[in-house]
Amino acid sequence: MRVVIQENYDKMSKWAAEYIASKIKAHKEERPFVLGLATGSSPIGVYNELVKMYKAGELSFKNVVTFNMDEYLGLPREHDQSYWYFMHYYLFDHVDIPAENVNILNGMCEDPEEECAQYEAKIAAIGGIDLFLGGIGQDGHIAFNEPYTSLTSRTGVRVLTTDTRIVNSRFFDNDVDKTPEKALSVGVETVTDAKEVLLVINGHNKAAALAATVEGPVSAKVTCSALQMHKNAIIACDEPACGELKVDTYKYFLDIEKSQRL
Ligand code: GLP
Repeated sequence: MRVVIQENYDKMSKWAAEYIASKIKAHKEERPFVLGLATGSSPIGVYNELVKMYKAGELSFKNVVTFNMDEYLGLPREHDQSYWYFMHYYLFDHVDIPAENVNILNGMCEDPEEECAQYEAKIAAIGGIDLFLGGIGQDGHIAFNEPYTSLTSRTGVRVLTTDTRIVNSRFFDNDVDKTPEKALSVGVETVTDAKEVLLVINGHNKAAALAATVEGPVSAKVTCSALQMHKNAIIACDEPACGELKVDTYKYFLDIEKSQRL
């Protein structure tokens, strides 16, 4: 696992966007570059940077296919808190990605189990995900894989914990009762099956989750800790998010990253 420590949120976002862009540009196969994407406030800076690169003529999404991590169950696309809405607002409406290349679980599907099975099948049919971008929940969850979700889980229906609903209620008039109770989410193993995984983690409120992911045991209690077993996992983070790391851990990652640019 690499941990790339940047001074602040803007630098972290820039670093992560440049990393993603470098992978898209280096992809010379006819098969599209398959990019896993996430919502939440953490990746907004990354999306802003990717849009800037597209507008500057430096990057194209024409040969990119995306799969989003999750979606609230019961929210229609048009709802301004749906993840479909979020992704179009921050990224897809501003770049040249063909509409048919965008995959997002349908929160209004009639048969959630079938929707999730088809999502997995579609990922498999295209040959898997090249790079999965993610964030982290305050309890260390990845996508909507709450504590004690199996580390071998696949796409399915998830019941959100009270903690997550309280955290996410800021998007629903600060009202937990208005915050969805369930979501459709890729599984932990759907993420770790990607050739590369890149998490963006920022802010003091993520410091405990970052420390548990990097230093803690691999445990279903902290589903992001599964990344310790991944061959190509990167965490891009800012200084405040490092607040709970041991001093030696912090120094170690600064040392080994000195010689790397991207
Ligand atoms: C939700 C999403 C996660 C995201 C997390 C953190 O739980 N399902 O994918 O990582 O929120 O969001 P934020 O970046 O806003 O802190």
